Amino acid sequence: MSKIKKFKITRYKKEIKPILQMKNISKRYNEKNVLQDLNMKIMPSSITGLLGPNGSGKTTIFNILLGITKMDAGELYINPDGKKNINIGSLPIHQRCFENKIKFIPQNDSLFRNMSVADNLKAVAEIVLKDRRQIEETVENLLSEFSLTEHRTTLAHSLSGGQKKKVAICRALIGECSIMVLDEPLSNIDPITIEMIKDVIVKLQLTRSITILISDHAFENILQIADEIKILSDGYICSEGSPSSVVKDERAREKYFGLNY
Ligand SMILES: Nc1ncnc2c1ncn2[C@@H]1O[C@H](COP(=O)(O)OP(=O)(O)OP(=O)(O)O)[C@@H](O)[C@H]1O
Ligand SMILES: [Mg+2]
Repeated sequence: MSKIKKFKITRYKKEIKPILQMKNISKRYNEKNVLQDLNMKIMPSSITGLLGPNGSGKTTIFNILLGITKMDAGELYINPDGKKNINIGSLPIHQRCFENKIKFIPQNDSLFRNMSVADNLKAVAEIVLKDRRQIEETVENLLSEFSLTEHRTTLAHSLSGGQKKKVAICRALIGECSIMVLDEPLSNIDPITIEMIKDVIVKLQLTRSITILISDHAFENILQIADEIKILSDGYICSEGSPSSVVKDERAREKYFGLNY
């Protein structure tokens, strides 16, 4: 894989609308303004890398998007079919997840620890899908597509970090997924498994047209797979653009990459 993604997968025509818009989002914890009038547009079927220093508010943005954390001010819209903005700012988590098809792979392990890989998938399939045969088929197809068949009876707590991420991604694909949000999916993962997870993510974009929003401190890996990079600092997006342009941007270097990068 080259160091920086050199081509843009999707060339957007003027009439193509963002699939996700965050408008003037603010969030304060105690005395600290974590997000201040944050604006962000995400284009459909793109991979967007959200980068920023520790504590800059990346996870807070994801939690606000999923409805886990309440924003103090701002608006949140999705436009899944390119026709109409839907205001999701006050919807509960389950509606954003199941009806609006926004799926979250959190930073920490999110699997049911004492259940097998197959049962982790089945547990969600049984909520989302109705027909028993469809449930079985969906689980089997995912296990096979993600090369997890040999781990089907393995308990989640005894999987490696990389395998856990893969199962979490699989689980998010049950039902439909239009936007997948991944918070540090590459942390504590060995280099070969990092390559495997990056391949999985790019495949989600290419074969399922899923819009990906990803954050990770393994930023060189993000530069390789992202179409768009957004740098979060001081509560707002201080630099954005293609990976090759953002790494040259003075502000991005000052706030995140470092002046020697
Ligand atoms: N529930 C909470 N209560 C109080 N402060 C919080 C809470 N959640 C987050 N914060 C604070 O908000 C700020 C942003 O945290 P957040 O986890 O969003 O950062 P981050 O960019 O994801 O950092 P990292 O790169 O370390 O994952 C931090 O200063 C954090 O201490
Ligand atoms: Mg975080």
